[in-house]
Amino acid sequence: MKLWQARLGQTRIDPEFEEANASIGVDQRLFREEIEVNIAWAMALTETGVLRETERRRVVKGLRQIEAEIASGALPLTIDQEDIHTAVENRLVELVGAAGGKLRAGRSRNDLVVTDLKLYLKRALAEIAARVDTTQAAAILQAEAHPRALMPGYTHMRQAQPILFAHVLMALVSGLERDRERLVDATRRLDRLPLGSGALAGTGLPIDREALARRLDFAAPAENSLDAVSDRDYVLEVASVLAILLNRLSRVASDFILWSTQEFGFVGMDPSLETGSSLMPQKRNPDSLELVRARAGRATGQVAGLLATFKGLSLGYQKDLQEDKAPLFDLLDSTRLCLGIMRRCLESLEVHEERMRSGLDPFTLATDLADHLVEKGVPFREAHQAVANLVTHCEKRGVPLHVARLGDLQRFSPALDEEALRLLDPDAGVARRASTGGTAPVAVRRQVRAARRRLRRRGLFQEAASGS
Ligand code: ARG
Repeated sequence: MKLWQARLGQTRIDPEFEEANASIGVDQRLFREEIEVNIAWAMALTETGVLRETERRRVVKGLRQIEAEIASGALPLTIDQEDIHTAVENRLVELVGAAGGKLRAGRSRNDLVVTDLKLYLKRALAEIAARVDTTQAAAILQAEAHPRALMPGYTHMRQAQPILFAHVLMALVSGLERDRERLVDATRRLDRLPLGSGALAGTGLPIDREALARRLDFAAPAENSLDAVSDRDYVLEVASVLAILLNRLSRVASDFILWSTQEFGFVGMDPSLETGSSLMPQKRNPDSLELVRARAGRATGQVAGLLATFKGLSLGYQKDLQEDKAPLFDLLDSTRLCLGIMRRCLESLEVHEERMRSGLDPFTLATDLADHLVEKGVPFREAHQAVANLVTHCEKRGVPLHVARLGDLQRFSPALDEEALRLLDPDAGVARRASTGGTAPVAVRRQVRAARRRLRRRGLFQEAASGS
């Protein structure tokens, strides 16, 4: 039976409308939260005298049984049950009779559904944050395993300056740290209990909402009942935070796909993350990373879809709001899966240090020559021009920069001396970038140490208290 059937009497719901209206296929994910919230509400109703203590106990026992039935699949969740709230109430009345029918007093599915969802999100986001941690840890371990691997750093996908591969890995760690902060921040903001807001105007029963919030482990009750049932900005915020995280994973995936091509060969992927071809026997394809990239695309559409769904809605519950959960749950699934794939990819990555190094174009040291001239007192503007002329000259002659002779150098600037020749070494170039955040081995080691310390505070790397 529908919870609103009384108003419409014996009228049968249109079957196609029933199918569109039923959210049970999606919101059954909330069944544990639904049970927990119902148990807390039963306690609140008992305190206000709506439910007798003996009834409360029967209700709680019934709810626990329903939880077990849903978990085991024993309770069929069919679309005639409309949603998880209806399914649980109907089954409760079957199990405990009239006491089960008392539970709906003073509340609405409008405050119930957002309470369930917020509770669910608090846990889901904590799990995702933990996955961010393990992904960071995998990147850190690779950075430590390859402390001196040099590779070309790119801008515009053209070789720019030599960097450490570990620097690339630590760039990911820094980005993931911001993603994690966003998760924590979004969680903190949604930590307000909607329950007790009724349909929109607040509950008519003398419910102690502060006590209810404590019982359900929320920081405080929502301030305004109308806002509490209408608010979906937490859905938008969480969806956006997840989309940003997926966006990051997608960009890393793109780089690894490129760097694992035959042409680059900088890294090799573990076969457990690859597929073969049904036609070409030699192929190994990076499908896992391609899917990470595609999920980020899907996420973009989901965030846009949510924004569009909510934007014209008047304050107060409208059924449009029900459409929030399918994209949100899908985003949570995508993020969980993609973080897992990325962690696995990082853990198992083969790093071909020689290939990386041999891929380095010596012209990427041109900036170091210009910097050297600056140290000699030449204005950077002139230094840049002199080195650009030298590069053009070498290019024309087909001479790589590092085999240029002193005489060549001095034709373009007398300040280019013996010392300048020694600069034409990528290891030296990298080592010079030692200030905070730079790519020098010492600077990268500092990044690694700081990241390790953060993760240790979160319970990872406990075995290696000394760090590295
Ligand atoms: N299944 C609904 C949802 O997810 C629950 C709220 C229904 N409220 C209502 N007044 N019809 O949004």
